[in-house]
Amino acid sequence: MNTTASASHALAVILLGRGAVYAASEAELAQLAAHVHARLQAETQAQGMAPAWTQIVVQPAFVDRYQPALPEALDACQAAHTVVIVPVMVPDEPALRRWMHKLIMRWSARRGAHANTPRLIFAPPLPEAPQLAETLAGTVRQLLAAPDTADVPAVVGDDAWEHDPKGWSSVPAHSHHVLWCMGPRCAAKGAVQLWPELARVVRENPPLKKRLMLLQTSCQYPCNHGPLMIVYPEGAWYGPVQDAGEMQAVLSRHVLDGEVDSVLCVHGRPALPAKAESSCPAPSPLLPPIPRETSSGA
Ligand code: FES
Repeated sequence: MNTTASASHALAVILLGRGAVYAASEAELAQLAAHVHARLQAETQAQGMAPAWTQIVVQPAFVDRYQPALPEALDACQAAHTVVIVPVMVPDEPALRRWMHKLIMRWSARRGAHANTPRLIFAPPLPEAPQLAETLAGTVRQLLAAPDTADVPAVVGDDAWEHDPKGWSSVPAHSHHVLWCMGPRCAAKGAVQLWPELARVVRENPPLKKRLMLLQTSCQYPCNHGPLMIVYPEGAWYGPVQDAGEMQAVLSRHVLDGEVDSVLCVHGRPALPAKAESSCPAPSPLLPPIPRETSSGA
């Protein structure tokens, strides 16, 4: 199903979704691609002796946080006769759609007058598809026809943390936060593939691991400098960060040596505190609680 389209009469369909912090979006989009593939295949076979396509490929792609990004998916489908790109996102943001158009144009321009450049079709926003409303209405009809299945299932699992609310009240003792951009433009420049590298660099460097917490973010705006990361509390913006060696050098320099890497720093050149102590610094004291109004009205 998700193999490279190679036949000259191949149809490639790219289901374009958004990634998320957890792996569910990857698994769900892969499953949806499998269903769409089976459906298209069955319809083509039902056409008898003259099927429209000799090969059908349905390929998931992600706008952000997961790979493949759209350019990679287009590369995988480049030998197809026709590529249909179907965004499966609700809402379908106009700004994101415009950027996707640009990305597709850029990909086509890179191929130039290549003989096998496929015909590219970009589907309209999913919420505008009349079939979507019909599908949802069908789901409602089905649920109403089978009232026994309409109960809301219990969502609590067996993991200990689900029964220990105190476990989510402790503030970690990290002195620094690294905000790694997984927005669409940084994702297209390799941020998704680099994230595991960043985690590895920190994991394998105990002094860094002690001080740093890594967090993923959406677009931070200066996309042209991506892949981009901000190191707080100083607020130094670094980019483009392109490999594990750069991550290691920039973070060690910033967090352990108290220096900003002037080559990769694109914004914010704060005076950093002196070289880090060997033990992990205590977290900043929390703000005092805001006095509550008394109900006596005094
Ligand atoms: S996508 Fe990373 S800064 Fe915009």
